[in-house]
Amino acid sequence: MSDIFQFNGAEGSGWSQPEPIIDDSLNTVPVSLRRSNLPRWPRASEPELVRHYTLLSQRNFGIDTGFYPLGSCTMKHNPRINERIVQLPGIDRIHPLQPEHQIQGLLSIYFEMQEMLEICAGMDQVTLQPVAGAQGEFTAIRCIQEYHRSNGDYQRDKVIVPDSAHGTNPASAAMCGYEIVEIPSGDDGRLDLDALRAAVGEDTAAMMITNPSTLGIFEPEIAKAAEIVHSAGGQMYYDGANFNAILGKTDPGRMGFDAVHYNLHKTFSQPHGGGGPGSGPIGVKEHLAGFLPSPIADREVAEDGGVTGDGYRYFWRTPDSTIGKVQQWHGNAGAVVRSWAYYRRYGKELELMSEHAVLNANYLRHQIMNANSDKRDAIHCMPVDGAPAEVVKHEFTLSMQPLKETTGVTGKDVAKRLLDYGYMSPTLYFPMIVPECLMIEPTETESREVLDKFAEDFLTILSEDPELVQTAPHDTDVRRVDEVLAARSLVLRKEFD
Ligand SMILES: Cc1ncc(COP(=O)(O)O)c(C=O)c1O
Repeated sequence: MSDIFQFNGAEGSGWSQPEPIIDDSLNTVPVSLRRSNLPRWPRASEPELVRHYTLLSQRNFGIDTGFYPLGSCTMKHNPRINERIVQLPGIDRIHPLQPEHQIQGLLSIYFEMQEMLEICAGMDQVTLQPVAGAQGEFTAIRCIQEYHRSNGDYQRDKVIVPDSAHGTNPASAAMCGYEIVEIPSGDDGRLDLDALRAAVGEDTAAMMITNPSTLGIFEPEIAKAAEIVHSAGGQMYYDGANFNAILGKTDPGRMGFDAVHYNLHKTFSQPHGGGGPGSGPIGVKEHLAGFLPSPIADREVAEDGGVTGDGYRYFWRTPDSTIGKVQQWHGNAGAVVRSWAYYRRYGKELELMSEHAVLNANYLRHQIMNANSDKRDAIHCMPVDGAPAEVVKHEFTLSMQPLKETTGVTGKDVAKRLLDYGYMSPTLYFPMIVPECLMIEPTETESREVLDKFAEDFLTILSEDPELVQTAPHDTDVRRVDEVLAARSLVLRKEFD
């Protein structure tokens, strides 16, 4: 069976539309809005319908199907216990308009989550409102903007980003009306303090940076960078999308940051992909807390011991100088609860998650870079050519530039060929400062066997006939597509002949 539209089951099978109930004489639906021909619903019995959807799911690739080493986007296993917890009646039957006294359990989860995130990041107040990392960036930069305005600092109209920054950083700052100042990285891929010194001034509103950077390397001079920005009166913004590299080991508060966002769907747990669903809470230092969007979960001592039995009554609070709402209701409650369940499972051992993410990235990098010299010569491990002993964090970048120069095979060709081997391709051509870049993030949930096999297959591809690689993928339902056309002209409907 190909798909339901081609199959079209037996006459009389499936479900029939009832006769229309529109009384023509009442003229309720204008003739111009009525359809002139009958819809071409496919005919199908229940098993045929089930097969149709199962088939569609099998044509997709996901973390539940195979290894998904997508750098920066962090696709890791989501423990199924989280799904059971989020489906408990006390959680999934809640209506967002229910009064506080009826949702004390959910409020206490929100409060605990805020507190845990504050501790992990060294921040004073967290809001769980934003539903994506990018929305968290926008929200935090808006808080920073209001903070400057409240100090009469209206001339601060620039946000500094390194050239290795994730694209959402400059985009979020630009959405707040800021001009973007991009500073080049040093030869080692790290933040260049001289370039930063030259860029800061009385017009600096903030610097946005992630640490470890999108190259997967730690910025050891981050505290100095914070000093430089602060002494010019700017604020430091931490893009916490790479938090799974440092959680429990250090925190952005200690590094000198004033505001951070977290990607709960990457660092903690929430099935995601294709743009959502996610959760991008932000945390800020005390001086920015009054500007946060509402509502924030809070608590006070309850005379009667409280409904949850912990001695508190929980309630929603609106900060005094709030920038307003950035999201309807209470953010993405499902993602918050799944991430809470995930953190509760780890408890004080949360840092193990980061340790394993970093270990896996270094192991895989080592397996690839320690290949026979003919294969190793085809790739560069950025940003430390010739120094493979350097430790990366949770992800690493490879440059396929040498391979391209010797065989004509590009990073994109290798990425496409990996699909034939049953892998999701790594992130391609990002960060842009690495030529022919592949960015690999194995995550902490993969076993050594999976990593060994991936390294072996990856190295095999480097030795394959260039034409075979350049024409890949060969074994997928959809072969190589025109990506620009695919992104600009989405085909989301089945067209009938
Ligand atoms: C470094 C970095 N910053 C920001 C983001 C934006 O997060 P989101 O996709 O949740 O908007 C991402 C997303 O993967 C990222 O990798």
